Amino acid sequence: MTGDLKNKTLENERLEIQMLLEAIHQKYGYNFKDYASAHTKRRLHHRLNISNMSNYAQMMHRIIYDEDFFNSLLLDLSINITEMFRDPMVYKKIRRELIPRLKTYSFIKVWHAGCSAGQEVYSISILLEEEGMKHRSQIYATDFNELILDKAKKGIYPLEVMKTYTGNYQQSGGKNDFSDYYTADYDNVILRQSLKEKVLFSSHNLVTDGVFGEMNLIFCRNVLIYFNRQLQNRVLKLFYDSLCPGGYLCLGSKESLKFTDMEDKFEPIADREKIYRKKRLP
Ligand SMILES: C[S@@+](CC[C@H](N)C(=O)[O-])C[C@H]1O[C@@H](n2cnc3c(N)ncnc32)[C@H](O)[C@@H]1O
Repeated sequence: MTGDLKNKTLENERLEIQMLLEAIHQKYGYNFKDYASAHTKRRLHHRLNISNMSNYAQMMHRIIYDEDFFNSLLLDLSINITEMFRDPMVYKKIRRELIPRLKTYSFIKVWHAGCSAGQEVYSISILLEEEGMKHRSQIYATDFNELILDKAKKGIYPLEVMKTYTGNYQQSGGKNDFSDYYTADYDNVILRQSLKEKVLFSSHNLVTDGVFGEMNLIFCRNVLIYFNRQLQNRVLKLFYDSLCPGGYLCLGSKESLKFTDMEDKFEPIADREKIYRKKRLP
């Protein structure tokens, strides 16, 4: 293919993807236009290949007329991979350095934005319980995908992943036997009901929805990586406005505040673990 032809093909594909995203926005209200273009292109390609469709025109038809197809596509676009005590050193840092400071408050509010199926949320619930802070905490857990949020509310996970979760928990400085936190049920485990006591799950779209007030700690890990810089800046401003002065923000291992509009508004607390603290006004 000549350079000129290749450019034209790429431009046509960009246009087709733009039209698909517009259709999704108009029909279902989800706005993926400011997600990183390489990510949306990869995920749409993947769905095209596994659905036996030969082009995006066919996919457009399915998106408009087949809601089940759209729900599968939504899962592709949102990427729900997660783990309990994912990146154990982050939890170790929180336990050792943030918890002593958070203990000075009479009550703390924690927000997990983009909580997926809830593993991160229950990890913090366990940590707060072990640190004797659960009774004076409120955890808000949000995601824009209702199907995944339903899974999160249930707190039921495959037995086969427990080995990884147990290893993560131990490395994170967990104080108990991890199996104390669940009961096995055939091929699944059911997390202990008490871990849900201080958790409120709700739908929240970081692209369109507003501030969650006066948080002491916000987790938004492995979500911003799928957004373009403009959307990252919007969402980071939302977190800045949602945190109380001195509140903490925890990002994913491949994410950072560097080169964003919020870089000067936070101080790094732990570089490797991507934990930041909102600066107090002078
Ligand atoms: C890779 S998972 C990360 C889960 C967890 N935070 C972790 O690090 O293990 C990304 C999550 O972000 C959610 N997400 C993507 N776009 C979102 C948006 N605009 N608003 C809210 N959640 C979103 C997805 O549904 C998905 O559950």
